[in-house]
Amino acid sequence: MSNSNYPVDMGVNPEVTAFFDPATNTISYVVKDPSSNACAVVDSVMDIDYAAGRITYDHADEIIAHIQKNDLKLEWLIETHVHADHLSAAPYIQQKLGGKLGIGDQITVVQETFGKVFNEGTEFQRDGSQFDRLFQDGDTYQIGELTAFAMYTPGHTPACMVHVMGDAAFVGDTLFMPDGGSARADFPGGDAATLYDSIQKVLALPDDMRLFMCHDYGPNGRDIQWETTVGAEKEHNIHVGGGKTKEEFVRFRTTRDAQLDMPKLIIPSLQVNMRAGKLPPADESGKTFLKVPVNGL
Ligand SMILES: [Fe+2]
Repeated sequence: MSNSNYPVDMGVNPEVTAFFDPATNTISYVVKDPSSNACAVVDSVMDIDYAAGRITYDHADEIIAHIQKNDLKLEWLIETHVHADHLSAAPYIQQKLGGKLGIGDQITVVQETFGKVFNEGTEFQRDGSQFDRLFQDGDTYQIGELTAFAMYTPGHTPACMVHVMGDAAFVGDTLFMPDGGSARADFPGGDAATLYDSIQKVLALPDDMRLFMCHDYGPNGRDIQWETTVGAEKEHNIHVGGGKTKEEFVRFRTTRDAQLDMPKLIIPSLQVNMRAGKLPPADESGKTFLKVPVNGL
C-alpha cells in the first residue's frame, strides 16, 4: 500500500505507558484510547532464566497491575513480529484480562521456516491459527474509539508490522533510536534491501508522528530511551538518516550483520513466539520441554 492510502489521523493522541525490561532491553507498551478506557498492549515480555529453565511473569504482572489500577479494558495484544530475543507474555496477559491477539499474516512463513528448524510435528499448525487476528498491510482495527492500522514492514523478519495508533507508531525492530540505527536483517527471511524500503515507509509518515521503539541498548553509555519522532529519525538516524541511499545501507547492514552473534534467547524465543507465546505441549509425563537444535540455526 502506498503511504498516502494509510488512514493516518494525527488528531488522536493516545496515552502511551512504557515498561522497560532490563533483562532483554525490550520496551512493552500500554496504549490507551484518549476517548474511552480501551487499551492495547504492544510486545509484552515473559521472563525466562534460560540457564535454569525457569519461566516467571513479573514484567507481565506489572502491565496487568497498571491496566487494573487504571480501570482499563484490554482490547488488543499486538505483536509487531516474531521476536528472537525475548519471549512473549501475550497469552498470559490475555488469560487474565481478555483481548484479541494479533500479528502480521506472514507469520505463516515464519512458522513454516522454524517448524522445520525445530522439527515440529503435525501438532504445530503453520497457518497462524494460534492468533485471533492476522493483519494485512493497511488493515484497521478499533481500540475503543481509536482506529489503529498495521503497516507491512518486512526486512528484519518476513512478518514485521508497524502499528500506528493515532499520532503514535510502534515500530518493532524496523528502527532503533536515531543513535542506535536499525535492526539486523540476517535472520531467515530477512533482507537488508527490503528493510530499507520498509524504513522509508515509516519515514514517510508525518514528521511529528511519535515513534516508539521495541528495543534500546543505550549506545555510547547514554540512558535508555524509547521515544523519538519521524522527523528526528529522518534527520539523524545513523543508518538511514540524512538521505542515505539503499546501496549504502545494504552494504553497511550486510557487513555488520556478518559480525553479530546469535541473540542469547533466540532458541527459546522462536519456539515459544511462533506459537503466539504459548509453550510447546507437555509430553506424556506432563512435563514441558524446549528443544535445542544442534547446528540447526
Ligand atoms: Fe526482533
